[in-house]
Amino acid sequence: MSEPKLYPIHNHLKGKTFFTAEKYQRFYNESIENPEAFWAKEACRLDWMQPFTKVKNTSYHKEDFHIRWYEDGTLNACYNCVDRHLKDKGDQVAIFWEGDNPEDSRTITYKELHQEISKFANVLRMHDVHKGDRVTIYLPMIPEAIIAILACARIGAIHSVVFAGFSAESLEGRIFDCDSHFLVTADEGVRGGKKIPLKKNVEEALQGKAAHILKKMIVVKRTGGDIPWQEKRDFWYHEEMDKVAIDCPLEEMGAEDPLFILYTSGSTGKPKGVLHTTGGYLVYAALTHQYVFDYHPGDIYWCTADIGWVTGHTYSIYGPLANGATIVLFEGVPQYPDASRFWKIVDKYKVTIFYTAPTVIRSLMREGTDFVQKTSRASLRILGSVGEPINPEAWEWYYDNVGNGRCPIMDTWWQTETGGILISALPGVTPLKPGSATFPLFGVKPALVNHKGQIIENNSEAEGNLVLLDSWPGQMRTVYGDQERFIKTYFTDFPGMYFSGDGARRDKEGNYWITGRVDDVINVSGHRLGTAEVESALDAHPKVVESAVVGFPHDIKGQGIYAFVTLHKKEPPSESLRKELIDLVRRKIGAIATPDRIQWASGLPKTRSGKIMRRILRKIAANELETLGDISTLADPLVVDDLVKNHKYTVSA
Ligand code: WT7
Repeated sequence: MSEPKLYPIHNHLKGKTFFTAEKYQRFYNESIENPEAFWAKEACRLDWMQPFTKVKNTSYHKEDFHIRWYEDGTLNACYNCVDRHLKDKGDQVAIFWEGDNPEDSRTITYKELHQEISKFANVLRMHDVHKGDRVTIYLPMIPEAIIAILACARIGAIHSVVFAGFSAESLEGRIFDCDSHFLVTADEGVRGGKKIPLKKNVEEALQGKAAHILKKMIVVKRTGGDIPWQEKRDFWYHEEMDKVAIDCPLEEMGAEDPLFILYTSGSTGKPKGVLHTTGGYLVYAALTHQYVFDYHPGDIYWCTADIGWVTGHTYSIYGPLANGATIVLFEGVPQYPDASRFWKIVDKYKVTIFYTAPTVIRSLMREGTDFVQKTSRASLRILGSVGEPINPEAWEWYYDNVGNGRCPIMDTWWQTETGGILISALPGVTPLKPGSATFPLFGVKPALVNHKGQIIENNSEAEGNLVLLDSWPGQMRTVYGDQERFIKTYFTDFPGMYFSGDGARRDKEGNYWITGRVDDVINVSGHRLGTAEVESALDAHPKVVESAVVGFPHDIKGQGIYAFVTLHKKEPPSESLRKELIDLVRRKIGAIATPDRIQWASGLPKTRSGKIMRRILRKIAANELETLGDISTLADPLVVDDLVKNHKYTVSA
């Protein structure tokens, strides 16, 4: 591999950022040598009701497994994100909301946000939602989403946000899994000029096993479209908001009380309910938002992530609002009305910090630079990237065109499970290498281990499985209702360490380069999908015997979805069946899981014990037919010839 280009620290940032290289090193060393002192000091950024006396109490060892931070402290996350700013920032804008239609916008100050949240929290209480209850939130990118989330935090209800792009069936599973009696949705969402039938999806989700679980729902009127309605179960948001008082007392929460559940795919068919708690998560969200983006008062901060993903939780809501920031919330898509939209929004609100995903950059790259160049973007200072490795071409395009070579790009590595960013450059500190997330943040102890679980000597060039040797405050605490699965998934392959499921390389300067998932998870447009989930959707079709799904390199999405499908002997493959299968997956999971390619397979490559050899399928899907590797251990090596032949038809289809 050729030496990557190195981008030194920008002169215009020198002396203006929180950190210098020396200060980073000093803080980092302290955070590793004396985590208690470091995290005690950093926790002072929040307002506590009862101060904590214990800071860190964690063990990854099976016999005595526990993760607790600030365990005897109490606080309220909503208070920290809103109430405490009222004194000197009440009239400051908290949210610039930009609608899908460029003519639609709303400005919400901290004072107004506080009122709306307090009222909605009272609505929840009026409907018997209490501390510890799970509230499912299935909303588009409208201010009410943030209001609902923080209203839950205010009264200690656990929110479970389900991405509005997920199907009715996915929603059903998530309501069922966390036994959620209450839901907040909208009549319809609007994206790219198209309507999304959210309430209708909810209705469909309630046809099955979630029917007897969900008791009530609140519906925000976004479009006024025709929707199904059930008296006594369904309530309009605006009507309920008129019935309640403006004052809403705060619930005092233990630092380790749950704040939210967010479902994410794993290598088995069933998504996991990742549980985050209150104190450690919020300390970590606020700290990383401030340091990684060098956030200062006066910055206008925009993270484009949907609130349905963890990036939307930590870096569109909790982190920036805990820091009293002004955020942009955008309802629409980057290409509507045209591919200039993002940059027009940057100019309209004078955005200074902009955080997005590589897949967005690649999709805009394809549209050409004219759409960028006709905007100013002079307000921008810091850029961010998250969700998947950013390829150097996309990095450079982002850097040169969007940032005009003035703005460093923070490539931030983290996961739903980690709560916040773990590996990232820092402005003013880190020379950048396109494609590398660079160095660990404070308190983060990454290491690379080989398949035997042995740590590959630190401070050397190496490649292996990316693990974390110690806990950090933002770490997930459990899989909701399934502690055993939590320990099995993350702490069993490599005992005593947290295993991320990612592979990584470390170069001789110590920069980390994430190489991608090493488990049966694929990353499509920065969104995580378990191959088993897609397979079980395909297998549900009566004509399908079995299927195997793998990722393959995709120009825009990073990874695309490639499905090998075996049909019953008497069923002939057809174009209409291909469409049916695609439809089925969209219905069962959502549009993000749409297979890009379906290859008919007379059989799948299996070992003699019946295990599918995905390694071979990945090679075929990637069109690396010359390097299939050893196939002699297959039960029937001839299957491979057939697959290779059929691959050509699939690709040309
Ligand atoms: C997986 C986590 C964390 C928010 C978005 C996705 C991949 C994430 C990067 C990055 C390389 C990255 C990893 C990780 N990933 N950020 N900067 N460079 N890979 O959250 O759905 O929990 O997915 O996304 O593979 O394990 P998620």
